Amino acid sequence: MPKITYIQFDGTESSVDAALGTTVMNSALENLIPGIDADCGGEGSCATCHVLIDESWISKVGEPSESEESMLDLNPDRAANSRLSCQINVTPKLDGLIVNLPEFQY
Ligand code: FES
Repeated sequence: MPKITYIQFDGTESSVDAALGTTVMNSALENLIPGIDADCGGEGSCATCHVLIDESWISKVGEPSESEESMLDLNPDRAANSRLSCQINVTPKLDGLIVNLPEFQY
């Protein structure tokens, strides 16, 4: 299973084995990672699953869709590497992925 590392805004790291076919958001919830509420359950309509992709992983994760972009744009704290973790599917190529959790989500 691909390993994903979540880094809290205070620097605390948690690495988990993420099941293929799930999302980066689901993996966080299943492993009780704080900072991801996922209020809409993964529908892409709440933006409470916001993560900041580690710079070295941006190209592998890919670009957000148009609808994801619209949701991200509603957040004044959005950054260039912002993504909604419910829109990132766990695939073998994401083994080693590092995401940072924004302070504004706590
Ligand atoms: Fe709501 Fe991702 S869980 S947008």
